Amino acid sequence: MRKIVIAGNWKMHKTRGEALELVETIRKGFKDNGEIKVIVAPPFTSLLSVSEALKDSTIGIAAQNMYFEKEGAYTGEVSPLMLKDVGVHYVIIGHSERRKYFCETDENVNKKIKVALEYSITPILCIGESLEERKGGRTFEKVEKQIEFAFKDISPENARKIIVAYEPIWAIGTGETATPEQAEEVHSFIRKKIAKMYGNNVASYAIILYGGSVKPDNAFSLMRENDIDGVLVGGASLKGDSFLEIIKAGIRVSGGES
Ligand code: PGA
Repeated sequence: MRKIVIAGNWKMHKTRGEALELVETIRKGFKDNGEIKVIVAPPFTSLLSVSEALKDSTIGIAAQNMYFEKEGAYTGEVSPLMLKDVGVHYVIIGHSERRKYFCETDENVNKKIKVALEYSITPILCIGESLEERKGGRTFEKVEKQIEFAFKDISPENARKIIVAYEPIWAIGTGETATPEQAEEVHSFIRKKIAKMYGNNVASYAIILYGGSVKPDNAFSLMRENDIDGVLVGGASLKGDSFLEIIKAGIRVSGGES
């Protein structure tokens, strides 16, 4: 059985004090019954404080990016070693905002995934098509290419550790969510693609999240779909109450009480 994963991507929001306040609300409100995994991704400046605040909690901590070298003359970058050092367990890689604004290439995404795995940091690989690509009927082609690039030269043993987040770019921060059917269609395609590359066993365990304007009122219907194993939430993860509502939806989908 795949566990439902609910991840909050805080992007470039929250000072350290605000981050601690938010994480305290989540910690208090989330009653972990072992059915789901909750992850928060604060900005770099709050990682250490959040990781200390969550020391005795099952909530996972993700960074929003990482460089693929251990150390060196790379001004402004943060290495996997440094992330491990502050208690990070997950790292978001290839988010569409990084691809768009910070020249993140498929090649770098692949390098980052490999290095994250080497340091036992679980990569959360983001893929997804633009509105133009969707309208032009190129959605599957786009995500297929992104998967092929990202998983290049990755062993089946490592491939099974990667979390994939399907985030249609047109749905990110726009208030326009993919319908559960639209999302499921792509999720099921992604799972089949992983099966083609690594076999049914790896594919059946692969965790595939949906991201793009996930809110308390659409989270349940998205996660109820067969191949949607959770959500990567931006805007709605910035407030404790809405993030907790989404967590509750995840618990309901997994069959637990909430
Ligand atoms: P959003 O962002 O929920 O604000 O659309 C999702 C994401 O970018 O991960």
